[in-house]
Amino acid sequence: MGPPKKHFVPFLLLLAFCILLLLYSPRPNSISTQFPLNPHSIATSTATSASASSTFSLTIKVLTFNRLNSLTRCLTSLSKAHYHPDHPVHLHIFVDHFPNQTQSNIDLKLQESLGILRFVDGFQWKWGQKVVHYRTTNVGLQAQWLEAWWPTSDDEFAFVVEDDLELSPLFFKYLRALILNYYYNASNFSPFVYGASLQRPRFVPGKHGNKMLLEKTSGLFLYQLVGTWGQLLFPKPWKEFRLWYDDHRAKGIKPFLDGMISTGWYKKMGERIWSPWFIKFIHSRGYFNIYTKFPDEKSLSVSHRDAGVNYGKTAGPDSQLLDENSLDFDFPEMKSLSTMKKYDFCFREVVAGRIVWSLNDLGSILPSVQKKEAVLLVSLFGVSETVTRNLLCHFERLNIWNYIFIGPATDFLFHLAQSGHPVIDADGFLEDIKSFKSLRIQESNARLIKEILLKAYVVKKGLELGYNTWVVDGNMVFVDNEIFLDPMDNFYAGESLDLFYVKNSPSAHKIWTHDFLHDVAAMGDKIALPSDTVNFASVMAKLVGQKGIRFKRIDEKSFGMKIGNQNLNQALETNKKVVYWFRELDMNSIQKHLQEMNLWVIDNDSSCRAVVCHNS
Ligand SMILES: *[C@@H]1O[C@H](CO)[C@@H](O)[C@H](O)[C@H]1NC(C)=O
Ligand SMILES: *[C@@H]1O[C@H](CO)[C@@H](O)[C@H](O)[C@H]1NC(C)=O
Ligand SMILES: *[C@@H]1O[C@H](CO)[C@@H](O)[C@H](O)[C@H]1NC(C)=O
Repeated sequence: MGPPKKHFVPFLLLLAFCILLLLYSPRPNSISTQFPLNPHSIATSTATSASASSTFSLTIKVLTFNRLNSLTRCLTSLSKAHYHPDHPVHLHIFVDHFPNQTQSNIDLKLQESLGILRFVDGFQWKWGQKVVHYRTTNVGLQAQWLEAWWPTSDDEFAFVVEDDLELSPLFFKYLRALILNYYYNASNFSPFVYGASLQRPRFVPGKHGNKMLLEKTSGLFLYQLVGTWGQLLFPKPWKEFRLWYDDHRAKGIKPFLDGMISTGWYKKMGERIWSPWFIKFIHSRGYFNIYTKFPDEKSLSVSHRDAGVNYGKTAGPDSQLLDENSLDFDFPEMKSLSTMKKYDFCFREVVAGRIVWSLNDLGSILPSVQKKEAVLLVSLFGVSETVTRNLLCHFERLNIWNYIFIGPATDFLFHLAQSGHPVIDADGFLEDIKSFKSLRIQESNARLIKEILLKAYVVKKGLELGYNTWVVDGNMVFVDNEIFLDPMDNFYAGESLDLFYVKNSPSAHKIWTHDFLHDVAAMGDKIALPSDTVNFASVMAKLVGQKGIRFKRIDEKSFGMKIGNQNLNQALETNKKVVYWFRELDMNSIQKHLQEMNLWVIDNDSSCRAVVCHNS
């Protein structure tokens, strides 16, 4: 009935958009994983039933423009591949238009387009639908990729192919095997895997990153980088990316990621290319792509690198194609996801799933954490998620990798472990210690005593293994890594910083006995210090002092800088090694202070602004 209803249209659109956002907005706290990481929560896998797996469909998205010879080679190779009767394989061809400002050679351009369209029209495709999308304007590679797909179900996959690629006849067989093993097999499924690339792994985008040490790797592995020469996309992460892109693009945020070659591409090519956006998204989510190293660096998808947007002049094929006659060719073993090696944008190995629940776990995990026989135990009690993420970016910047976090069993803690940061689940660990050592903890001050006791146990385990241990609080930022140089003293304490160092020394072994730990556990009522000054460092300093052992006090005034509610606009005083604050200080103040000092190094997605590679 007329005009008034029109008002509802924008409203409905808005509502629909909000629902989509709700459905796909990132919820880092509820990310489930393939590993039974958190015993307190049941991992909800999105992998669907076996019946769905037998009916999934694949759509090949061919992106083309004006290279008829390339396109002919590409489509011919696709038509010669082996498909499977269970799975429809659709072919969508996106033909970009020539730019409208072309004033010269218009007739030639029109002829070229006509040539492409005639060829595409005549091309037979019998494995599914053939759809041709002929553009009216030149949209460029970014829109060609981004608009190529909006999945309509979770059983629909896209394989994106630029026209200068050539595919092996075996490519679909392999994609099918990957999809069945890493999408539909629930025990190998992870929401952190966004797809698979069929190109030869060859490139590390982090500046000063490692060479691809592929002699160490064989068969399948996980790597964060997208491989644009034959990329299989899984539906959910792709939708998530599209919504993330909309959100950032609309707010004028740029996909800058310092230290990455892709940021240079973006500065040069801007919105003509899409990969800097995708790379930034993958970095912020910590997602991975499946790659395969085939013998002799052959691959199932080869780029001829013909002259075009990516190459000024033709560069020639990137590697050799695996064909049916490749002698002895067998697909590599589809190893279980949990045993696959994982690499970040520096091609640094990411060791996921290191979680300590018991004393035993600690004995097996600490050796993988230590560097030069030193371990950095970082307390996350009372430390917010954002502050922890900021701290991690500083560790990356400072090339500090020998840390292990200890904190309550939250989803975030398990997410950290999944992302390659070793953790101690304080709740699980405490249960193990209590039952094992029949410890009774005094109820008053219980929370604090537990925290202190756990740290004391980790120090003890470190001593048994011959390590020096630094115990530090997560409410702190390290300005440089000099503080972790060996301070020479057996014990070294900063009581208001809550920093304590125990050197692997005869005197430490003498004090750090089981009796000592029982003393800690029984201490409840005896801690009469004002509560805001009671922490691990102050209690240890006191106990060690009572034994008549000398320890060195850090000169905290010159060592660190404490920020508080007052005096915003602080500049970092030179020569300070750490910046710290009280647990109670509110998030906004922490962020503002650290921003003033250029120590706030995460972006609005709480991910590091930079990738910092250290050649190893
Ligand atoms: C080309 O397209 C742009 C944007 O749509 C428009 O502003 C411009 O006038 C067009 N140029 C020609 C020659 O048609
Ligand atoms: C699923 O993956 C697991 C782990 O790799 C493997 O043991 C199992 O055989 C796979 N199941 C099927 C049906 O392939
Ligand atoms: C981050 O978010 C804040 C507040 O929402 C906004 O003021 C700021 O401009 C954003 N920063 C960037 C780089 O978008």
